[in-house]
Formats: sequence, structure tokens, C-alpha cells
Amino acid sequence: MRDEAPSPRAYGERVLVLTPTGRDAELMVATLSQSGLKSSGCSDVAALCAAIEEGVGVAVIAEEALGGNGPDLLDTTLASQPSWSDLPLVILLAGSATLASSHALLSCFARHGNVTLLERPVRTIALISTLRAALRARHRQYEVRDHLTQRALVQSALERSESRYRSLTLASASIVWIADAAGSFVAQGPTWEAYTGQTRSAYQGWGWLDAVHPEDRDAVAGVWRRALERKEVYYAEYRLLRHDGQYRRVTARGVPVLDLGGTVIEWVGTCADVEDDRRAADYLRQGQRIEALGKLAGGVAHEVNNMMTAVLGFGGFVLNGMPEDHPLRSDVSEMVKAGTRAAGITRQLLAFTRQQVLQPTVLELNGVVTDLTRMLGGFLGADIELTIHLDPEAGRVRADRVQLEQVIVNLALNARYAMESGGRLRLETASVVLNDAYASRHAGTAIESGSYAVLRVTDTGVGMDAPTRARAFEPFFTTKPVGRGTGLGLSTAYGIVKQSGGYIWLYSEPGHGTSVKIYLPRVSDPLGRPSRPVASPRGQGETILVVEDEQAVRTLARRILEVAGYDVLEAANG
Ligand SMILES: Nc1ncnc2c1ncn2[C@@H]1O[C@H](COP(=O)(O)OP(=O)(O)OP(=O)(O)O)[C@@H](O)[C@H]1O
Ligand SMILES: [Mg+2]
Repeated sequence: MRDEAPSPRAYGERVLVLTPTGRDAELMVATLSQSGLKSSGCSDVAALCAAIEEGVGVAVIAEEALGGNGPDLLDTTLASQPSWSDLPLVILLAGSATLASSHALLSCFARHGNVTLLERPVRTIALISTLRAALRARHRQYEVRDHLTQRALVQSALERSESRYRSLTLASASIVWIADAAGSFVAQGPTWEAYTGQTRSAYQGWGWLDAVHPEDRDAVAGVWRRALERKEVYYAEYRLLRHDGQYRRVTARGVPVLDLGGTVIEWVGTCADVEDDRRAADYLRQGQRIEALGKLAGGVAHEVNNMMTAVLGFGGFVLNGMPEDHPLRSDVSEMVKAGTRAAGITRQLLAFTRQQVLQPTVLELNGVVTDLTRMLGGFLGADIELTIHLDPEAGRVRADRVQLEQVIVNLALNARYAMESGGRLRLETASVVLNDAYASRHAGTAIESGSYAVLRVTDTGVGMDAPTRARAFEPFFTTKPVGRGTGLGLSTAYGIVKQSGGYIWLYSEPGHGTSVKIYLPRVSDPLGRPSRPVASPRGQGETILVVEDEQAVRTLARRILEVAGYDVLEAANG
């Protein structure tokens, strides 16, 4: 059946007239018009069928106009009416019609025709009332058609909106969820299942809360309940257990869907993984804080270092000039010892702020680690098991050997402190290529892509919580009791690694140990020769100009050079 576009109303109300001659048709049209019925004549059955296709209220047909294959033609047209249509036909029987011929006519249209037979002569009033009744019935049919059209439009709009919703859910990086009015999750879609690994029956109702980190559960349930009570937008940020056992930070949002009366029908919301964004922001914040601290610490360290150079230098002169049994000798030597400790701290601070003078040479990373192993084994103690895994491909780096050793020792010392009741310390080397994908995971840090040698130091100690992790690289940040640590171990390591063009990352969870990864750019230059201590030169009255703005340091330099046999000129600036 065809379901065509609606025809103009006027066509739907017209009466089609088919008579054997045009003259008869004209008379009929005029008569109907007097009674207020719009009508038009058709010349033959084919013209009638074509007009029916365009839209019609009722067809009046004189039996004798149907001759030949007329009935079949008309029946075919009627058979192809759309489902809502049951076109009324009024057939005016021929004067010669018999009961048998009328029955034959009726049975011809029995399947598709809504036929009324009228005997002639027909009184005008009878014809008009029959036509009016037929038009009323036809009008109803058109109403049904309009209703069906409307419904089809609504249906297709609904289907479009549903497929749009489905596509939106698929296109969105977020999980889409639906909860009933009481707050029970009814559907979370395949994305929730895929993300959390929870089965459908496990997350229904309030089961989804089981995938929320135990520390966040109460708070999230509270926010959800409040949103339900107040019919307000729900927003929560929490840690969600991913199918691989990792907790990831997510943000969840939900809005109530209201009916016209303002009653909540259900809730629709999303849940988005923001772990990578948050981590990048953390890195950025942490990096900025460390840089700011570096500037402050650097200024102080530079000043103090100058003072300590003078204190230790002059202290040395005093000690050298004192007889062995001088009563003040032990006091002065205590002063020098304290000064030496202070100078050690300022040196570490200078390392942190990358103001230290490094003596970089080309080193085999594996060689540095191997050389240190014996020493590490010594101070780690029997209850810490040390394992070393060296990748022969780790390669060479350009760094200051003493400083690099200092970094490894600092990390090993931290690990030992974190494993007071024993554990395992693992030192590994590897070679990696950092690419743009890696850099994008560490937004906030400008990462040079290229080939790197990696050193990883992993312990099975107590690990760090988030606040400790966030501040671990800060100078003077320590969780050790007063007097046990200065909080400079990791900051020194940070400064040295940065000054060598590398990166240092920390991975740690409370109770799950700590892993520190250091990336140093690989070089292909030949290995440097270890530098040998050089004998201090001695002068023979040559003149040296000392330019130094710090007066105490200038005076010290003058004294040292004079002792070494030079003539000295001083200047505070160039
Ligand atoms: N391997 C580790 N395991 C657990 N916590 C660690 C580890 N390494 C560092 N930390 C934490 O980071 C803090 C800072 O470390 P850092 O090495 O800078 O200073 P420190 O060890 O406290 O003092 P210092 O190194 O000057 O003796 C430590 O106090 C500790 O809380
Ligand atoms: Mg330390």
C-alpha cells in the first residue's frame, strides 16, 4: 500500500462524477453545486482513476459508464489505496439493472470497494444525503491519515533522537549513566562495565559505590544523597577503581530529568576520567613551586657559601698558625667543623639550584652503578637485599661522576630509611626513546624527545602518601625527626639531574614502596678519562689580579695566593 503525502483538503472533499456523456456529467455537477457540494466530472474510467489518485471525497458513477474493463481498472486503483483509505463509491444503477446484475457488480468490488448502489431514478435529496454521509466518512479517513502522518513524524523524530543519544554516548569519552528517581543506578551502559570491570548486577542500585575508593565512598554517597533530596545538579570528584586494579580520579556529574509537573523522573549523568589532566596539573604546580623555591634558596645559598668560604679559609689560617697545645685550639677546630657542615649544606643547596660548577665527563651509566655497588652493599645492612639489573644497551651519558654518585647514594639512603625493618632495593638501568606521546603524558614539563639512559631505584619500603610525594623534591622538606635529616637528599638529586639535562620522576604509594626514575640524555661521544688530582701550582713573585665583589672572599683569595708565592692586586669589580 502506498502512503503518500497528504493531498490538499479541497481535493479530499470533492465529488467525482463519471457518467456516459459529458452532458450528463455537467447536469450532475450543477445539481450538486446547488446543494453546496464541490464536484467535477471525469470523461472515462481512466480519468476517474487518475483523479482518485490526486484526492477525492466520494465518487459517483453511472453503471453504464463502467463498461468493458472499467470495473477491473477501478478495482486495481482501489486495491492500491493507502491503509487509512476506504474510498466511498456511489453507483447509480442502469435502468436495465436486474438483481443478478447488481449482485455481480457488488461482488466485483467486494474486496476493495466501499460501494453503495442507488436505483434510478434517484431523488436529488436521496443522492445528496447519501453523498453527505459518504463525505463525512471520508473526512474521518482523512483525519486518520493526518494522525498517522503525525505519528510517523513523531516516531522518526524519536528514532533520530535515540540514535543521536546512542552516538553521543559512544562518541563521548565519558561514561554515561542513568539512575531512577530514588537514586538507584538502573543503567550505566557498556562503558561502565568496560571501565570498572563490574558486572551489571554488581553495579545496579548502589552497587557502583563498591568501585569507589573506600576513603571517598562516604563523601560521594553524601553528595549524591544531597543532590537527590534537593533535586540539584550532582557533582563529585573521586577515585574510581579501574578494571586493571588502578584507582583513577574521575569527575561525575548528573542532572535530574523532570516531568511537566516538576517531579523527578530519573537522573542522567556522566563520569569522566581526569587522572591524566590532574596529574599534569600537579606536575606543573610542583615544578613551579620547586623553581620558586630554587630562586629563594639559590640567593641564600650563594651568600652563605661566600661567608663560609671565608670562615673556613680564615679558620684554616688560624689553626695553621696555632701551636698544637694552644688552649683555644679545640674551640677553633669545633668552629671549623661546624663551618664545614654548614658549607656542606650550602653546597647541596647550590646543587639543587643548579648553580654548582659541574665537571661533566662522558660516563658509562652501568659502570657508575657497578662501581658503587660494593659501597652500597656495605651501608645497606644485612636485612636489605640489593639487586642490580644492568641493561647492556643503557649507554653513555654526560655527567659529573661525583655528583651522579651522590644522586644514587641519596636515593639509596632514602630507601634504607624507608625499609627500617628490611626489604629489597633494586637498581636497574635501561635505554629508552622518549617521544611526543611520552611528553604528552607529562604535560607541564618541556620534554626533549630523544634517546635516554634510564636509572631506576626501587625499594619495598613504607612508600609516600600524596602530600609527601608533592613536596618530596622541596629543599628542607623532610618527614624525619628533627636532627635526622635535612630534607636535601631529593632536592640535590633533582638539581643535579636537571643540570645534566635529564628528568627525575617519583612513583610511590603508601605501603607499596617507592620507585625513582632518572632519565639522562644518551651521548655517543667516547668515554672521558678520569681526572687526576693536580698538584697545586706555586708562584714565583708573579702578579695576579683578584676580582671579587665579596670583600671577605677577596681577602681570603689574596691570603691564599700570597701564601702560594704570588703578588696580588685586588678589585671589587671589573
Ligand atoms: N624511598 C623513600 N621512601 C619513602 N619516603 C621517601 C623516600 N625517599 C624520600 N622520601 C620522603 O621524602 C622526604 C624527603 O626526602 P629527602 O631525601 O629530600 O630528605 P630526607 O631523606 O628527609 O633528608 P636527607 O636526605 O637530607 O637526609 C623524606 O623525608 C621522606 O618523607
Ligand atoms: Mg634523603
